[in-house]
Amino acid sequence: MNNRLLTSRVLRVEPLTTTVFTLEMETDQPVSVQPGQFMMVEVPGHFLLRPFAPISCEGRRITFAIQRVGEGTEILAGLEPHTPLMLRGPLGRGFPAVEGPLVLIGGGVGVAPLLAVASQLEDHSGPVRAFLGFNRAADVILREEFERAGVETTICTMDGSLGYRGNPVAAATAEVPSGWTAFACGPQPLLQAVKGKFARVYVSLESHMGCGWGVCNACRVDRPEGRGTLKICEDGPVFDAEEVELK
Ligand SMILES: Cc1cc2nc3c(=O)[nH]c(=O)nc-3n(C[C@H](O)[C@H](O)[C@H](O)COP(=O)(O)OP(=O)(O)OC[C@H]3O[C@@H](n4cnc5c(N)ncnc54)[C@H](O)[C@@H]3O)c2cc1C
Ligand code: FES
Repeated sequence: MNNRLLTSRVLRVEPLTTTVFTLEMETDQPVSVQPGQFMMVEVPGHFLLRPFAPISCEGRRITFAIQRVGEGTEILAGLEPHTPLMLRGPLGRGFPAVEGPLVLIGGGVGVAPLLAVASQLEDHSGPVRAFLGFNRAADVILREEFERAGVETTICTMDGSLGYRGNPVAAATAEVPSGWTAFACGPQPLLQAVKGKFARVYVSLESHMGCGWGVCNACRVDRPEGRGTLKICEDGPVFDAEEVELK
């Protein structure tokens, strides 16, 4: 756990789709965020910071892909360059280092932390595929970035307007041997669907967060068979899918 506070300023806010935008920040000191770890980001005028997993982090530059879902993300979408913002982190446990064939399965803005994984796989010992799911072609984000990272990428849309028609778990299970390792991030039904489909499955969970570093108990997730609970902010957000109940 590293709940260090960083001062930063906005470099750029750019729309990716009608509801998703990138927020690029420059921090006052270098920060290293492992893929799947997250940062708590200040929302001007709000007491609670909001958790986001960066798509990239190089030196003092950190970039997020953020979906507008409520008041905080609306405010972030409207920030001007040079606005100062406080960041806290990096926090939590990200995706583990694994060897051998790897499939990345993301849904919607859940593809964000998987891009951070894809970008750090130059020396990976095995094939890597990505299956990225969206409702329709107009919602597709970060496709070129996955391809630029050298990962064979399949776009899936629920309405069939681009790529495979259907969800990315169906596409991945049809094309990828079950002995591969899977990393998944996206809506809960996607995570439920991928559990048990591959030899090892790691899922990145979301939850409302108060503190982000284990103090407030806002982010508990059940362990299987009544074996207690874990904290998403501290024990996750990435878990072996067998360690948690995906409801
Ligand atoms: C570890 C982690 C990493 C995340 N990474 C990203 C990311 O890279 N990009 C991104 O767009 N979002 C990400 N999120 C989700 C993001 O934190 C929330 O969407 C954001 O905090 C909502 O803030 P708001 O003030 O706009 O929404 P609010 O006004 O607080 O809520 C708006 C709506 O969204 C729901 N909601 C809010 N927060 C969450 C949440 N955490 N989980 C489920 N539903 C929620 C509320 O119930 C409500 O219906 C991440 C969440 C976690 C826990
Ligand atoms: S967000 Fe406070 S304990 Fe997890």
